[in-house]
Amino acid sequence: MTFLRNHLQPIKGYTPGEQPPPGSSILKLNTNENPYPPSPEVIKVLQSLDLEWLRRYPDPTARVFREAVAEIFQVAPAAVTVGNGSDELLALVMRAFVEKGARVVYPMPSYVLYRTLAQLQDAVPYEIAYDECFTFPLDSLIDAQGAITLIASPNSPTGHVVPISVLDQLAGALKGILVIDEAYIDFAQVGGANHGLGVEPQNALSLIHKHPNVIVLRTLSKGYSLAGLRVGFAIAQPELIQDLNKAKDSYTVDAIATLAGTAALRDQAHKHQSVQKVLRSRPILQKQLADLGFRVWPSATNFLLVQPPSGILAIDLQQSLKQQGILVRYFDLPGVSDKLRITVGTDAQNDQLCRSLQEILGAASLKMAT
Ligand SMILES: Cc1ncc(COP(=O)(O)O)c(C=O)c1O
Repeated sequence: MTFLRNHLQPIKGYTPGEQPPPGSSILKLNTNENPYPPSPEVIKVLQSLDLEWLRRYPDPTARVFREAVAEIFQVAPAAVTVGNGSDELLALVMRAFVEKGARVVYPMPSYVLYRTLAQLQDAVPYEIAYDECFTFPLDSLIDAQGAITLIASPNSPTGHVVPISVLDQLAGALKGILVIDEAYIDFAQVGGANHGLGVEPQNALSLIHKHPNVIVLRTLSKGYSLAGLRVGFAIAQPELIQDLNKAKDSYTVDAIATLAGTAALRDQAHKHQSVQKVLRSRPILQKQLADLGFRVWPSATNFLLVQPPSGILAIDLQQSLKQQGILVRYFDLPGVSDKLRITVGTDAQNDQLCRSLQEILGAASLKMAT
């Protein structure tokens, strides 16, 4: 017997990555957290928190946070809304703009939550397969004319970026809304000497001004090392943000998250430093894994998509690593079910991963030889 609404009964629901409690000795390379701590400014906010902030309801519009976004990214505060992680904003976009039975379009493989959210909305998830080289299926996405089209750029789990000129073309050709999910954008920058101020190169914010149907999503979970705080934000033309806010619950971003998130956002120099550390480790890990016989895809993110050496199944390898206390992510999705997604950790963590892989692969090749 179930009380669940009919259309929800066949749905599997989203399976988040495994989250062992903080302090456990597990090496977590499965959900793309930043391995470095958040800004010390966040710690200061938490340590000096005025309890009055907790007694009262939070500001439902998170004005201080939106003003910080506005200053840093050179948009109007009215062009910003805040969510309990970008996951909440994705759900909000569905709730606001997708009718029952409408098409929610996205390339596959991509962030699996898109499918779940479309299903929850009783909409039609319309998945367009990437080819083996993850070529962006621009024409098919245009032809599909979704009520919403969702593009993660950089994409997960593939790690590639969609050029802005292509997103520009897509936005212009769609009658519905284009959501550009830039959860990993902080790791996609070339050079990046512009910390502290302004819009980074090669991100979709410039498209907001040109296209009334574009929503850019950002998060503090990755570059800013605040996945546990749950703060994301959407930037779009004010009219679109106003519509989005109509569908929003009032108090999803709490007072602590608003204040701590604002402090993190204002400390662009800290984010820049920790991103640079990850970017220095990324090619080292790429080479280590390639030396172990993995095929490693180029990455504009803080994770790597890798295919194990021949004869080794990705899912088996994930399980073997788990037995050694190391979590990486396996997706049973078209195009990536023979691959793993591995978060770039500190150099020491990456070395630990590679030592375990060496051991596992060594044991497997011995077994194959006998
Ligand atoms: C592509 C993509 N978008 C959004 C999110 C959700 O981020 P948040 O922690 O802000 O909800 C993730 C999380 O891993 C992601 O991979």
